Amino acid sequence: MAQHTITVLPGDGVGPEVTEQALDVLLTVADLFGHDFTLHSRLAGLTAIAAEGVAISEETMSLCGKSDAVLFGAIGSLPPSERRDARVLPEQALFRLRKDFQFFANLRPIRPVPGLHHASPVKPEYVAGADLIFVRELSAGLYYGHLDSTPDKPSEIRTTEHGLVAIDTLRYTEQEIERVVRAAFDIAATRRGTLTSVDKANVLSSSILWRRVVERVAADHPGVTWEHMLVDACAMYLLRDPARFDVIVTENLFGDILTDEAAMLTSSIGMIPSASLGVRRTSAGIFGLYEPIHGSAPDIAGQDVANPVGAVLSAALLLRHSLGLTREAEAVERAVEEAIAEGYRTVDVQEPGTKAVGTREMGKHIVAALAEGHRR
Ligand code: IPM
Ligand code: MN
Repeated sequence: MAQHTITVLPGDGVGPEVTEQALDVLLTVADLFGHDFTLHSRLAGLTAIAAEGVAISEETMSLCGKSDAVLFGAIGSLPPSERRDARVLPEQALFRLRKDFQFFANLRPIRPVPGLHHASPVKPEYVAGADLIFVRELSAGLYYGHLDSTPDKPSEIRTTEHGLVAIDTLRYTEQEIERVVRAAFDIAATRRGTLTSVDKANVLSSSILWRRVVERVAADHPGVTWEHMLVDACAMYLLRDPARFDVIVTENLFGDILTDEAAMLTSSIGMIPSASLGVRRTSAGIFGLYEPIHGSAPDIAGQDVANPVGAVLSAALLLRHSLGLTREAEAVERAVEEAIAEGYRTVDVQEPGTKAVGTREMGKHIVAALAEGHRR
């Protein structure tokens, strides 16, 4: 029996509640398919700051580094008034993980479940046929903020003779662009063979370099049809004609914004999983970090109402990309669709005629559908 080690970082807010459901699903998979998953749970974010004084401890980082995958819940944030003078920010846990493990490719699949087309704020006839995946660059760009300010990549508020001046740096090396663009072309080749590279080349130098790299890498993938698209136009087409997209590759901040927008096609941000993949190979895949794209939602934390689907589908991506368990990943994805088809919905995707269930109950229905699907 193959043995796999997973570090679990439930994090803050609704993170622990949705992660618990994803873990139940993983344990059910282990049971049904005969796998041995060793799980280590650790703190990250606000809870780690409170207990350990840091957003993520060295011990936890080293444990993650020795695992096949990291399952992540959600990270909280400090109120803006406290952020300014803070020495430690909860988001640093995520940034540290993304940077130290070079998770440069963040996969965010957007595949509206047929039964939910009417729950989307976008008209069902526009949602129909949408099935796309974002490859968001995750290791560079404008991110990393004031606690990570360096002379070649300043990010700070300066006091000058003209008053306060704020500066952030959008910096990309050719190599940073190339590795994520290559990953995106490789993914496009396994899908419908279409890639959209999104940038703001009419304004930004980093986008001009981005386009050059895309054109060079495209020459190695004659089977993939590709286009450049400006980010503002992309934001429009995601609502006007989402079915035109297959793979979208873009830089860090554009990807952050566009994926929240695209999540609305599926009806709720609670539905979207993600995989952050780096460079280290595991015995059967790539070491990665898996998390729903939603935040810690402190306003609904502890109420058993958060949607666990994004977390459960993140566990499916973990099975596929880090453990090489494709059949198991597909079984989990089918189980989610079945639970929804049976009419079970958390409140964020509630429609007339469907049953409102809590986080735990939704998880139970997914686990039941998984077991039932395995029996058939
Ligand atoms: C995400 C989140 C993070 C990001 C936050 C928590 C820093 O919004 O993963 O999309 O902006 O990358
Ligand atoms: Mn985001």
